[in-house]
Amino acid sequence: MLQLLTFLVEKFSVVFKLKVFEFCCLKGEDQERPVQRAPAPLLCRGDLLEVPRTLFIHFGIYLGDNKVAHLIPDILPLLTNNNKLIRSVITNDRLVLGCMYKSATVRVDTLEDFAYGSKILVNSTDKVMKMQPLASDCVARRAEKLIGEFPYSLLWNNCEHFGTYCRYGSASSQQTEKFCECLKSVIRDHRSVIISGLLGLVSIVYFGMAPSTTLPTILIPFTLWMAG
Ligand SMILES: *[C@@H]1O[C@H](CO)[C@@H](O)[C@H](O)[C@H]1NC(C)=O
Repeated sequence: MLQLLTFLVEKFSVVFKLKVFEFCCLKGEDQERPVQRAPAPLLCRGDLLEVPRTLFIHFGIYLGDNKVAHLIPDILPLLTNNNKLIRSVITNDRLVLGCMYKSATVRVDTLEDFAYGSKILVNSTDKVMKMQPLASDCVARRAEKLIGEFPYSLLWNNCEHFGTYCRYGSASSQQTEKFCECLKSVIRDHRSVIISGLLGLVSIVYFGMAPSTTLPTILIPFTLWMAG
């Protein structure tokens, strides 16, 4: 059951990524600075690291000594007390389910576990954010203070909020902002009213007149029209 659910969510996220996120140009790829996999000499304590993961770009704060603090959704702490199991590298299944159950922890992992096979980018948010980063050691100490369980929300309290809170002193997420922008442009596009109205009519023709088809047919286009 759990596996089926994870499978569905992963598939859904792939479609979602392709359709919505690419459409909205989620990441400004050209501005990012790739850094080679062998990390040690180039990273300093307090650097903000990024790697791509299933649903989103993942963020963490480098603590030095090959360790990264990051906020990551994880279902396991809800299912078991076995610390050894929980400490093991977080797979995508654990991550996706943690996301759905809004369970997350700020934890410390090795660079390799944090990267999960992807290339790590360093400090690339500095160009996007309008704020100056705090002093490096202060950034790392803010991250260390937050280690432990953490409330999670994909949109309002995610790994990017954690990273920006530590590095700049205030939490914000480009991914959330892009998503909201995208939602806004859909709402403000008058074609959405027409399309939702047409879909409603099709559902009425197909399933017949009933409150479950007529109400949405009227209310959704009306709401979109008023909100747009
Ligand atoms: C990241 O930013 C910090 C300053 O906050 C700087 O000391 C460090 O060298 C930067 N790292 C890289 C790899 O550019």
